[in-house]
Amino acid sequence: MARQVIAFRTGDAARMAAARHIREIVFCQEQGVSADLEWDGKDDACEHFLLTDGETALACARVRPYEPGCFKIERVAVLKEHRGRGLGAEIMEALMARLGSKTLVLYAQTAVEGFYTRLGFASEGAVFQEAGIDHIKMVRHSR
Ligand SMILES: CC(C)(COP(=O)(O)OP(=O)(O)OC[C@H]1O[C@@H](n2cnc3c(N)ncnc32)[C@H](O)[C@@H]1OP(=O)(O)O)[C@@H](O)C(=O)NCCC(=O)NCCS
Repeated sequence: MARQVIAFRTGDAARMAAARHIREIVFCQEQGVSADLEWDGKDDACEHFLLTDGETALACARVRPYEPGCFKIERVAVLKEHRGRGLGAEIMEALMARLGSKTLVLYAQTAVEGFYTRLGFASEGAVFQEAGIDHIKMVRHSR
């Protein structure tokens, strides 16, 4: 089956349910993020991305306007059993291609800093905690 990355908004109920399912499994169940933090009320302000293989959704991400000319990437997740075979990079590349030359910011879990470094992001400032997990701000400047 062919893989593809689809961009959508919360009004697309079926795709939103698929993205929420991945986030529930990865962030809430696997990483122990609380429901309050995960479902933060910002989904309607975001463009969402889903990587599918045929009918099966394997990865998700969301992006929202952050500052003028700058967007924030959040909730990047690949189902555990599908990690390590390029799907995370694939959804990020598609997302970055869609956003064009915009400056992109994200708060990376320090455990995956190297994943974002490979994609052209640079770390800024000190490590901080979010949802009880160490994070660092990373930026990919407009190009
Ligand atoms: C982070 C995550 C999205 C990466 O997805 P993935 O599909 O496993 O990553 P890929 O296979 O596309 O890896 C792409 C590159 O990043 C590297 N990479 C992946 N995870 C890495 C990590 N934790 N640390 C350093 N490098 C990493 C890979 O080795 C690969 O490098 P290469 O191009 O030189 O071979 C995935 O591990 C995940 O969903 N983790 C749980 C949720 C999470 O923590 N999300 C991030 C929130 S900030």
